[in-house]
Amino acid sequence: MNILILGSGGREHALAWAVKQNPKCDRLIVAPGNAGIAAIAECAQLPIEDGGAVVTFAEENAIDFVIIGPEGPLAAGVADRLRDAGILCFGPSKEAARLEASKSFTKEICDAAGAPTAGYAHFTDAKAAKKYIKKQGAPIVVKADGLAAGKGVIVAMDVDTALAAIDDMFGGEFGAAGAEVVIEEFMEGEEASYFILCDGENILPVGTAQDHKRAYDNDEGPNTGGMGAYSPAPVMTDEITEKALLEIVKPTVAEMAKRGTPYQGVLYAGFMIKDGQPRLVEYNARFGDPECQVLMLRLGAQALDLLEACARGTLDQAQANWADDHAMTIVLAAKGYPGAYEKGTVIKGLDDLPEDSFNMVFHAGTIEKNGQILANGGRVLNVTARGDSLQEAHDRAYEMVQKIDWPDGFCRSDIGWRAL
Ligand code: AMP
Ligand code: GLY
Repeated sequence: MNILILGSGGREHALAWAVKQNPKCDRLIVAPGNAGIAAIAECAQLPIEDGGAVVTFAEENAIDFVIIGPEGPLAAGVADRLRDAGILCFGPSKEAARLEASKSFTKEICDAAGAPTAGYAHFTDAKAAKKYIKKQGAPIVVKADGLAAGKGVIVAMDVDTALAAIDDMFGGEFGAAGAEVVIEEFMEGEEASYFILCDGENILPVGTAQDHKRAYDNDEGPNTGGMGAYSPAPVMTDEITEKALLEIVKPTVAEMAKRGTPYQGVLYAGFMIKDGQPRLVEYNARFGDPECQVLMLRLGAQALDLLEACARGTLDQAQANWADDHAMTIVLAAKGYPGAYEKGTVIKGLDDLPEDSFNMVFHAGTIEKNGQILANGGRVLNVTARGDSLQEAHDRAYEMVQKIDWPDGFCRSDIGWRAL
């Protein structure tokens, strides 16, 4: 099988690493890829949000299966173009990817499906939105409706902050994404993520995880794309997992199918859990990054079979074989991230680290120049390890971090604190 993966982050390195181990995989191309991916696959330059260009490339290279990593190509309808061309593809249609691309759409689906989530109102006008905020009071959550690279959510602890967020959003801070806003009830509790493969009709959960969104230790500092993750998430007990599937995920998948826009791909559900009850915070239409890295290390080669069954509509016959294991990933980011940071700094020590089914350094933002690995992004490396316990995975991962020589990078020292 010739496989094309779209994307360039740690998520795509982890997907490529898992897929590559499956004997079914003949040729593996990742577009655009990064320095870590280049060590295990061919990398190709390709405008990945241009459906026509992706189809042409896939046809020219006799690609049998395309796996879409990030949300950009999904929201641009790349999966639709591939399916129209008869190419097997993992990832939802543009219409189904609205579960991530539009917060108001997701709210409407939850209403129709009876799925527990925060109370909300939807506005296209700043004056009405402000009036609503003053009436509701704080804490309150203001969200840009569209894709805003994870930055379109303001959890306001006071009314003034919420009103300022409205001014920012309608003032164009988030471009078209902020032309509509959703204002939500503030939910208290513990957050966790659940990753569920859906083939339009059948579902197959592939693991729970917890992310660390804040940049610094003790959950301080600005929000980021995620500074580390582990799987499984202990807060997702069997009982809560069952509830989440029954009350939230299954009704969502059924509602999407009923509307003639079945969801095919991975549904990344974010929950807020309090007093044994999960409520939906958000859906994403892709694997989380860095959550994917821990899931792939745990799944290994079978990931390809599962993604393929998902794309073919045969998930009812698929099964995930779990070891009773734990995985953790630590994100190494460039100093300054998520603000301004330098690119091109030299990273040493990677060659001496183990690379096996228990220890992997996935590259998130790197390039190779003259035989050296250089930082080429904000989040740069994902140091990932697996063990019989979370403590073991933690110790292995931090041991690897110690051996990486990159004075221009930083990481959190407390990944996993909630569970350990
Ligand atoms: P989202 O992009 O919707 O996941 O929001 C980003 C983060 O904001 C979430 O992971 C939560 O930590 C927080 N958040 C979003 N919605 C709410 C809510 N209704 N109540 C409390 N926190 C929220
Ligand atoms: N780690 C959060 C995300 O992928 O959205």
